[in-house]
Amino acid sequence: MHLTEKRLSDPYRPGFHLTPPRGWMNDPNGLCFFQGEYHVFFQYTPESASGAGKRCWGHYAGKDLFGLSFRGTVLFPDSEKDRNGAFSGSALVTDEELLLYYTGNVEWEGDYDHTYAGREANTILVSSEDGEHFGQKLLLMSNKDYPAEYTCHVRDPKVWQTDGKIRMVQGGRLDGRNTPDGDKGAVLVLEKSEESPWRTVGSITTKQPFGYMWECPDYFEIGGQKYLSCCPQGLPSENDRWQNVYQSGYFRLPETFAIAKPERFRTIDDPEVRFNEWDMGFDFYAPQTFTDAVGRRILIGWAGGGDADYDNAPTVAHGWQHALTLPRELTLSETDGRIRQQPVAELNALRTDYRKATEYSETLLTTGMADIYAGGLSVETLLSREKKEDPAENENDGEGVGILSVRSASEVLFRLLLSRSGQGFRLTLTLSPQAGCGRKRRNALLNDIRDLRILIDRSIVEIYVNEGETVMTSRFYPSEDDAVKPYRLQLGGICAGVWDMKAAAWSR
Ligand code: FRU
Repeated sequence: MHLTEKRLSDPYRPGFHLTPPRGWMNDPNGLCFFQGEYHVFFQYTPESASGAGKRCWGHYAGKDLFGLSFRGTVLFPDSEKDRNGAFSGSALVTDEELLLYYTGNVEWEGDYDHTYAGREANTILVSSEDGEHFGQKLLLMSNKDYPAEYTCHVRDPKVWQTDGKIRMVQGGRLDGRNTPDGDKGAVLVLEKSEESPWRTVGSITTKQPFGYMWECPDYFEIGGQKYLSCCPQGLPSENDRWQNVYQSGYFRLPETFAIAKPERFRTIDDPEVRFNEWDMGFDFYAPQTFTDAVGRRILIGWAGGGDADYDNAPTVAHGWQHALTLPRELTLSETDGRIRQQPVAELNALRTDYRKATEYSETLLTTGMADIYAGGLSVETLLSREKKEDPAENENDGEGVGILSVRSASEVLFRLLLSRSGQGFRLTLTLSPQAGCGRKRRNALLNDIRDLRILIDRSIVEIYVNEGETVMTSRFYPSEDDAVKPYRLQLGGICAGVWDMKAAAWSR
């Protein structure tokens, strides 16, 4: 089908974000670069856009991060050890093989809570010599192999190789039924050498619970700085942080922290200070990182989330739901040790027509896909702007000064507003009732605004602030009629460069 026809038949399909061919997509899994190709596996339920049904692993691969093709469903929940879902996991690349480690989820039938009883979390390995065909499922560990202090919730193995050892972190929920604090999120650290089987090294957690469960952990270093990423469930939502139902972020670990130090429990001090959210938007969870052939540390997240009170009904009506974020290159910010995230450079190859968008004038985003960049910004100049010049941006007075809005032919889809907050500033993303499908507003606190990069891709937007120190990702949905027309960009107090984007060369 011609691209334009495709867009008319499904105007919400992003052009350069990965989406499932049909059905449901969640966490990215098994990200790696193997034998000259990128591999992006993902949690997949092809038969159901609403996600009802068991999780499999879908598979995209290709030489270029924006030229992947769908290679089919590679892991099915078809054994006794994963019969209720081939849950999340990761890849390890050796000279000859691609190894996939994942959680086989089993839920016993009967009167079980499936937290303290009635659930198996089996760690399973499958291997492939060509990245396409996968062999037997090998059971590596089951609940009896994890420390007794864990509930049944242990999952999402992330594996890496170092110093002649293979290390693994798994997300977990410590059993706190006999403690005043209740259950506590933790990461289980395991290790294996050539000769020895997997063994537990210890657990990393916090003194007081920082959520009751940590999903999808990841450990990596950038420029010598150590990071532990995880997805805590159970943090209380506040106005400016932890705004989603479940959170996703990374702890900046002290220099002296050795991930594989054998100790039953090690605690991260000041978790609230050390925890940085990956993304302040509505639609982000369960990211995973990997390094590619040139040594870049790349992160891809699920542009979705669990149990939210907003939805993606417009794409479900087209038979699919959710997307993955852009691949983001991670670098260390020397100023504060935090991570910067930027779309990988190869995205720039999708840029087409360029023009300058100036303050107040309307710029059409003709393909519904655009890359917008504004540098050299000054917060004070942005804030000193007269509020009344654009009536549409004052509908919600008190929220701040409008610096950007994106409209369809008939309504404002989303806006970015800036306001003061204490010593710093608050950036607010608001969505209109129709376009938001229940999404209303998300805030990010900033010390400054120096630059903005905004990637719009039909029904998803990623906003990168200050070279990716802060990122916000959200889905948005114009009406079907409006979604095939150009979007309209209006800027307040900013001039920006705007590129139309073409779709990536996916083949589904
Ligand atoms: C995170 C998660 C993982 C689990 C997977 C199941 O979104 O809940 O912990 O392995 O999704 O699809």
